[in-house]
Amino acid sequence: MKIIIVGASGTMGKHLTNVFRKEHDVVTAATKGCDVQVDITSTASIENMYQRVGAFDALISTAGPTYVGPWKKMTDKEFRKGVDGKMMGQINLVLIGQHYINPKGSFSLIAGALTYEPQLNFANASAANGAVEAFVRAAAIELENGVRINAISPTVIESSPQYFPFFPGDIPVTMQELEYGFRKAVFGANTGQVIKLY
Ligand SMILES: NC(=O)c1ccc[n+]([C@@H]2O[C@H](COP(=O)([O-])OP(=O)(O)OC[C@H]3O[C@@H](n4cnc5c(N)ncnc54)[C@H](OP(=O)(O)O)[C@@H]3O)[C@@H](O)[C@H]2O)c1
Repeated sequence: MKIIIVGASGTMGKHLTNVFRKEHDVVTAATKGCDVQVDITSTASIENMYQRVGAFDALISTAGPTYVGPWKKMTDKEFRKGVDGKMMGQINLVLIGQHYINPKGSFSLIAGALTYEPQLNFANASAANGAVEAFVRAAAIELENGVRINAISPTVIESSPQYFPFFPGDIPVTMQELEYGFRKAVFGANTGQVIKLY
């Protein structure tokens, strides 16, 4: 299976690349390094990535930039980081990618527990996650040729200890649990689902 991983150089993306590379043809993507460079805030850049990669079977996105910071310092400008990044960036990966994906392919997007369990400093991610999850449900009834779409929604993950203080009481998701959430989305038969890991 040819799998594109956008965000492959990040904490989640590195792990998923390492495990899926043993079994599949993985194409890594991020703004720098990786097999292909893409900036998901630019539709031209996304189009360019798909043209370079060509037809594929699965797209995994672990690229979802958001603004993390105090509520009182948040303005329209900061909030746009998640709107243009995690929300529209991932939505455009699908809107453009649907023209390149093979029949019965799949899109697996990243959301997060913050949709339903807000934490201080993370309002931008909460809103972007909610939009991504709603988009996944809507896109599932629109995509053709058996193409599936799901979102993976973890709470804080074990390899991001810098975020532990922001998620009091949450048991971190192990990298294996995260991997298996993506496995369910990529290799399962489900569509329009939010795979909750919390
Ligand atoms: N870490 C957690 O505990 C956790 C828990 C739940 C949900 N999440 C969500 O999961 C996602 C990934 O988290 P992470 O910890 O793996 O993040 P990370 O380590 O910061 O990695 C982010 C990845 O996305 C890429 N990226 C960022 N902006 C991009 C853009 N505009 N275009 C293309 N690629 C871009 C980065 O590449 P470059 O450096 O090249 O830009 C990097 O490969 C985020 O949306 C986060 O909200 C994280």
